Amino acid sequence: NPRTRIGLIGFGCVGQGLFDILERQPESGFEVKRIAVKNPTKLRPLPANRFEFRADELLHDAELDILVEVIDDAAEAFRLVSLALRQGRRVVTANKAMVARHLPELLQLQREFGGTLLYEAAVCGSIPVIRTLDSYFGQEPLRSVSGIFNGSSNYVLTRMSEGGSDYAEALAEAQAQGFAETDPTLDMAAFDPRSKAVILAAHAYGLLLNPDDVLNLGIENISPADIRYAAERGQKIKVVASLQPLSGGGATVFVTPQLVPADSPLYDVEREFNGVVVEAEFAGQHFWRGRGAGGHPTGSAVLADLVALRNGFRYQYDKLSGATVAEAPELELEVY
Ligand code: HSE
Repeated sequence: NPRTRIGLIGFGCVGQGLFDILERQPESGFEVKRIAVKNPTKLRPLPANRFEFRADELLHDAELDILVEVIDDAAEAFRLVSLALRQGRRVVTANKAMVARHLPELLQLQREFGGTLLYEAAVCGSIPVIRTLDSYFGQEPLRSVSGIFNGSSNYVLTRMSEGGSDYAEALAEAQAQGFAETDPTLDMAAFDPRSKAVILAAHAYGLLLNPDDVLNLGIENISPADIRYAAERGQKIKVVASLQPLSGGGATVFVTPQLVPADSPLYDVEREFNGVVVEAEFAGQHFWRGRGAGGHPTGSAVLADLVALRNGFRYQYDKLSGATVAEAPELELEVY
């Protein structure tokens, strides 16, 4: 079998995690052929001649079978991914902010030009939540989806509840371990888990939400006294995303700190781990727990998408009813 050639755009925590996984798994059949990065002077763990600085060139390289976009900047990520989809290419992204904000356009580009975009790594790192909601639960009504979707804030809350660190120290630890966003406000003020909730709303309920319409409250104002107060009552404070369908259509979606009781499966989700609880009409309750951040876990989700693309998989979006898609405005897509 010929190897599947990857064009990798971005070599931060996720890019390096994926690269390392593929080095350790040569039998996976994937080869990173070209790597594009933004900063030519940064010290990197590979020889300088492995890197190039014009990501756009990778988009036009017909020898590359799949493009993997793992850069930080959501606007630039959207520019690159939409250009690639315009060429009908197969693309994997881990950029949750980009997918959450642009899903309607990304769907339209795939319909129009026949490419495929997968983004399992964008939500809850290594937990296969999107694929499962999309494919396994594609025809089953879901009564609720909730969970801990941000590893960094959960890490900070865990460290504070252990009494070992204060907020600033715990955040520095999360940053040092590569869990936090470049701008940690996205984690601490719950913008990051909000993006993930918006993406899951599309797969769980067929809703294309504007992230700005979803309430997000973070942990910046949670004090050690608040954590003690919860502990004295046998509870923990966690940043929980909650997606509940409304009987007339639509859903209530928000991300806020909540008091989690000891009998909740989310109670024991600690540190950078994420947890997702699904209440399905026929299957009953599912609980998935796994690493939501870090190079290897997130790289593992990208690898899963590469394999899925090689097997011809695409998301079904079964719950995005015809009506919903039709209601989404025909978009004027900018041509670059
Ligand atoms: N900053 C994110 C988190 C990374 O802490 O969960 C994974 O999306």
